[in-house]
Amino acid sequence: MNPYPHLFSPVRIGGLTARNRIESAPGSMGDLTPEGYLTRENVAAYEVKAGGGAAIVTIGESNVHTKTGKAHGRMVPLDDDEVLPSLINTTDAIKHHGALASIELIHPGRRANPRYYDGPIYGPSAGMGPLGVPVTELDEEHIEEIVEAFGDAAEMAKLGGVDLCMVHAGHGWLLHQFLSPLNNQRTDRFGGSLENRGRFALLVLENIKKKCGADFPVEFRISGSELTPGGFDLDDMVAFAGMLDGKLDLLNVSDGTFHVPSTNTTMVPSMFLPHGCNAYLAAAIKKGVRHTKVAALGWVTKPILQACVDGWLPSGLGVLTVKHKIPYVILTLLYLESLAPIFFEFNISTIGNMAVILNNVLFALVCFSAVRLTTRVPELWAQSRFHVSTGTLKFWSVLGGVATLGQTLLLFSVLKPYEMVGNGVVLVTAAGYAVMRKRSGKVHMEISYEEA
Ligand SMILES: Cc1cc2nc3c(=O)[nH]c(=O)nc-3n(C[C@H](O)[C@H](O)[C@H](O)COP(=O)(O)O)c2cc1C
Repeated sequence: MNPYPHLFSPVRIGGLTARNRIESAPGSMGDLTPEGYLTRENVAAYEVKAGGGAAIVTIGESNVHTKTGKAHGRMVPLDDDEVLPSLINTTDAIKHHGALASIELIHPGRRANPRYYDGPIYGPSAGMGPLGVPVTELDEEHIEEIVEAFGDAAEMAKLGGVDLCMVHAGHGWLLHQFLSPLNNQRTDRFGGSLENRGRFALLVLENIKKKCGADFPVEFRISGSELTPGGFDLDDMVAFAGMLDGKLDLLNVSDGTFHVPSTNTTMVPSMFLPHGCNAYLAAAIKKGVRHTKVAALGWVTKPILQACVDGWLPSGLGVLTVKHKIPYVILTLLYLESLAPIFFEFNISTIGNMAVILNNVLFALVCFSAVRLTTRVPELWAQSRFHVSTGTLKFWSVLGGVATLGQTLLLFSVLKPYEMVGNGVVLVTAAGYAVMRKRSGKVHMEISYEEA
């Protein structure tokens, strides 16, 4: 049986079908030509990713408007039509393996580097830039020019054979700078409220759709949080995702900002961080959208990710039940079976009534833990084939708890002294185990985040 039915199933992204849910993140290459054109080595590197099975292969940073900013020498110039032959070579190689080709569109804003560009350094607001060069506030005329440049760049990319494009609105690039209260102190329609700070990004999205067609899929890469006091946080980005919902096709959730180096730790996570360390951001943002698809990233090296769920034994049981799909029918039968000795007056031995008590305790715990899972790890719950409502689970939990108590009292009333001791030992051991697990802190569970 395929343990990852979602991961390897096709998914619609705008007007396209991706063959699975694996996207190769944008990775800029160090050996472009001096003009920024893609070389044979670059083509080979992207081809390997497509051949490896990814559904979407994203070519790294391209520059949309060199006239108003360029950050470094590894940016593919999408405002230069000479780029087309090398772009077509690359997208052909990607598509040859059945993957969709994408490219990342960037305007650096405050991150423009005078080594590669000799115009003014533009940003949402004036101030000192990260490279020690004063920043000039973008006026509306220039904002409109850059909006058009994003649309033109996407059109150029489409001519170059890309199937969709990724607009970089995270990591501290220009669209991120507008979103960030740390960089944006404007008082016009591009500053202040989240709606105003997000306006630039939305205009870019509209312009690309206008020039490339409504069915040309657009992906945004955002930082799910700036992870910095005074910056935008996850709640802001959940709200921003809501603003994009239905207009944008795919949302790629990264985190952090280049402007605060400590946040780069999780932006490009090392092997020492937990698997899928940024997936919580994508999971929260996914709840804020209904139509736009959401992609998680960051140290996603295997489909099963580690999730840390604050809990103890019952959660663990719930995971066993839900993940391994132990049907509630079986649990219910077990429970009913455990009632039999009482109603049919079987001759209950010590072993027998110990089993009855344990059986009921287990049943109650499983139900209780499944109730908790629905709120603690909704993604896991959503994967279960055995959906029952939270109300039903609560009902069975309460029933299991009350019945266990009643049964125990009944049993104790008919027990012989040595049976009392036997059952007492069982109960004390079970209670001791539960307390021990509770005190041991968090339970690490493996959950599949395929859907995020
Ligand atoms: C060598 C390298 C190049 C990268 N180039 C880009 C890039 O051009 N644009 C971008 O947005 N992210 C870039 N990233 C970040 C990745 O796209 C990705 O977000 C990050 O590595 C976290 O995902 P991972 O843990 O799966 O690698 C790069 C990362 C690496 C290691």
